[in-house]
Amino acid sequence: MLQRKTLILILITYIGLLNGCRQQTSYQGYSSQKVAVSDQAMVVAAHPLAVQAGIEVLEKGGNAVDAAVAIQFALAVVYPRAGNIGGGGFMLYDEIGGKTVALDFREKAPLAANKDMYLDAQGNPIGGLSTKGALAVGVPGSVDGLLLALEKFGKLKDRKLVMKSAIDMARQGFAISSKEAERLNKFADDFKTLNPYDFPFVKEGDWAKGDLLIQTKLAQTLTDIQLKGRDGFYTGACAAAILKTMKTSGGIIEQKDLTQYSSKWKTPIQFDYQGYQVNSMPLPSSGGLVLKQVLKILEPYDLDSLGFQTAESIHLISEAERAAYEVRAKYMGDEDFYDVPTAQLLSDEYIKTLAEGIDLAKASPSQVTPHTHTKTLESFQTTHTSIIDKQGNSLSLTTTLNSNYGSKLYVKEAGFFLNNEMDDFSVKPGVPNTYGLVGAKANEIAPEKRMLSSMTPSIVKKDKKAFLVLGAPGGSTIITAVLQVLLNVIDYKQNIEQAVNSCRTHHQWLPDQITIEKGCLSTEVRNALTAKGHTLKETNYMAIIKAIHRTENGTLTGVGDRRNPDDHAQGL
Ligand code: DON
Repeated sequence: MLQRKTLILILITYIGLLNGCRQQTSYQGYSSQKVAVSDQAMVVAAHPLAVQAGIEVLEKGGNAVDAAVAIQFALAVVYPRAGNIGGGGFMLYDEIGGKTVALDFREKAPLAANKDMYLDAQGNPIGGLSTKGALAVGVPGSVDGLLLALEKFGKLKDRKLVMKSAIDMARQGFAISSKEAERLNKFADDFKTLNPYDFPFVKEGDWAKGDLLIQTKLAQTLTDIQLKGRDGFYTGACAAAILKTMKTSGGIIEQKDLTQYSSKWKTPIQFDYQGYQVNSMPLPSSGGLVLKQVLKILEPYDLDSLGFQTAESIHLISEAERAAYEVRAKYMGDEDFYDVPTAQLLSDEYIKTLAEGIDLAKASPSQVTPHTHTKTLESFQTTHTSIIDKQGNSLSLTTTLNSNYGSKLYVKEAGFFLNNEMDDFSVKPGVPNTYGLVGAKANEIAPEKRMLSSMTPSIVKKDKKAFLVLGAPGGSTIITAVLQVLLNVIDYKQNIEQAVNSCRTHHQWLPDQITIEKGCLSTEVRNALTAKGHTLKETNYMAIIKAIHRTENGTLTGVGDRRNPDDHAQGL
């Protein structure tokens, strides 16, 4: 009898082990595909395993929103440098036959925040305070936003289904990519300093491609969210873990901050460009406003005849960008806290005055106190997902922790990194943030205010249907990357793959320079730009676009950016 029992037990263990192995293997072998074509549905996101999670939901009858929620929770597991439950973001959703809606689940400043919280007694910024550790953390919005979107616009609205892959991958582990290994090694010292205990992101020796990352605590938190909805994050064990982290690390987020967090439905910024209808994100993202201003300044010009990446066209585009980013710095912020003259900033008359300020012959220096910002930006710290589903609904979603792994502060008992989004506020007028952006009163810190963003999830429509769905990580360069992909497709008639992969330039008013991706623009063009008075600065790459293009006959082409090895496009 005893022998039979033992035998059965051995058999069960053996089958269990086999199953475990089988499931693990599925998260260990994957590769990324940059271009996909389908006449059914398309998903482009920052990691193959996350895309797979979305495709599975689409296959089970879910719509773009169901799939997007599955992808975001999966990214929180397999793309921890940016995917998150400890951050926030923006979603644009175009329901076929319905209207386009925008959802703001941006982090907000804690109730105990104040405008001088990062300054010393002399009024100077204290280095690192707004970027690393507990004080840098804004109240997270991702879980509230994703679940709200699911409830309102999901077809299946099934948390059990859409969170399954994420939970499985966290529990069983997945093989990390070479880029993730590189990032984990790069930030290992920060991880150890800020989190002086054992946790899944530190190990002896270096991380390497293929290493298994198991996140048991995160699996538990995700399971709580799956069972209890937003309460699984903003109250109970997860909230207690966040508060404990705050207490031990000198943070100021309290239970009331978490309980009171709520996402906001917004009306997208909507305008026509060359016969296309552009939909993009309103404040507290500057994305839609800046995009409209630049496109409207450029619209009267025949860019195609000025030439692709000639000195004339780059000069014009850069000057338009300079003008719009100046407006961004001076007037934009959270409208619920500051009286932003949004209607005026978007009006034809105002944009005309910006256009009239442009000299086609020479650069107009940015008129303020000198500002240096020498850091080069590598754009892996945010994540964008573009989806078109079988019904033709389209979705554009950007979420972020701000920097890689956010504040690098990890919630030990709940298994995730917290954002450092507070740095997107203007900590002091004229002082540049991580992305070299400056701001004014409109974007100063106040309790419960949302920090100004550059995230630009966008949906461009033609004849009432999605024509382009796109967005990107890349801090301040997100807006100009989205802009250039639009220009490349609409004005320069490039196919979507070329449009995404063409090299890019960027001007953001301050610092007063055109940033250029390495290898971009001939020496002749560079010299001509310098002769016009521009300072040029090279960087490795800027912003990582994920785009879907739809032809008139309905064929969908998804493109992940060559700039991120993990970007993945997959059709149904
Ligand atoms: O909201 C923003 O504009 C920034 N926090 C986005 C950060 C970002 O894209 C980082 N990726 N490179």
